[in-house]
Amino acid sequence: MISPPDALSRDDFVRAVDAAIRERRTRKVLAGAGEDPQAFEAALRSALEQAGMAPFHFAREEQVPEPWRFRVFVGEGLKQVHRALDEAEILYGKLPAIFDGAGAVVQASWLPEGRPERDWEHLAAAAAAAQNFLLAMHARGYGSYWCSAPILGQAAAARIFGQAEGESYLGTLFFGAPLSPEDEAERGFIGKMHARRTPAAAWSSWNEG
Ligand SMILES: Cc1cc2nc3c(=O)[nH]c(=O)nc-3n(C[C@H](O)[C@H](O)[C@H](O)COP(=O)(O)O)c2cc1C
Repeated sequence: MISPPDALSRDDFVRAVDAAIRERRTRKVLAGAGEDPQAFEAALRSALEQAGMAPFHFAREEQVPEPWRFRVFVGEGLKQVHRALDEAEILYGKLPAIFDGAGAVVQASWLPEGRPERDWEHLAAAAAAAQNFLLAMHARGYGSYWCSAPILGQAAAARIFGQAEGESYLGTLFFGAPLSPEDEAERGFIGKMHARRTPAAAWSSWNEG
């Protein structure tokens, strides 16, 4: 039996984990790093470590076996990458508002091997790491948005983000303090599939012999 962390009852542990999973929601427009940018950066660093606890099946490289890569842009680094994307005319539609509101942007990629029978596992593991990252930031009180706007994965953007040769695009993750409920109602964007959840019975089967 797996134990809850010290000082947490089993019920509290379950409630906390379930709440992080159920209450996370896509928040596309955010309020930057919030009132305490240092606390935000500390949260981001520790959430990134939790991202790396995702399961993965095969080592991609000897020294760095994980099949995912995350490039984090905060503070001046975020301003520079934002400016470069702007100058390259890559930001269109809602992306300018989304970048304006971000406290951090994380370019996420995964490392294919060119072996289809294993590449799907590398991609699946990288997606699990990305979800860990969103959940860990949610638990720390910050909002997130996993964006896959094709233009952010294309060569020009990949160069600006410093993505290495041979990496494939997993998405661009935006993190930041949530807007107030009033601002969220006025200028926030939620995920279009958010309300379209069906019960487990719709997409699973239950076999008891
Ligand atoms: C791999 C992936 C890529 C996504 N890309 C986009 C995107 O490009 N644009 C967008 O509006 N939402 C994108 N989303 C967010 C989904 O729209 C959102 O997760 C969904 O509507 C469910 O809402 P929720 O995250 O609040 O539960 C993406 C989500 C995933 C998992």
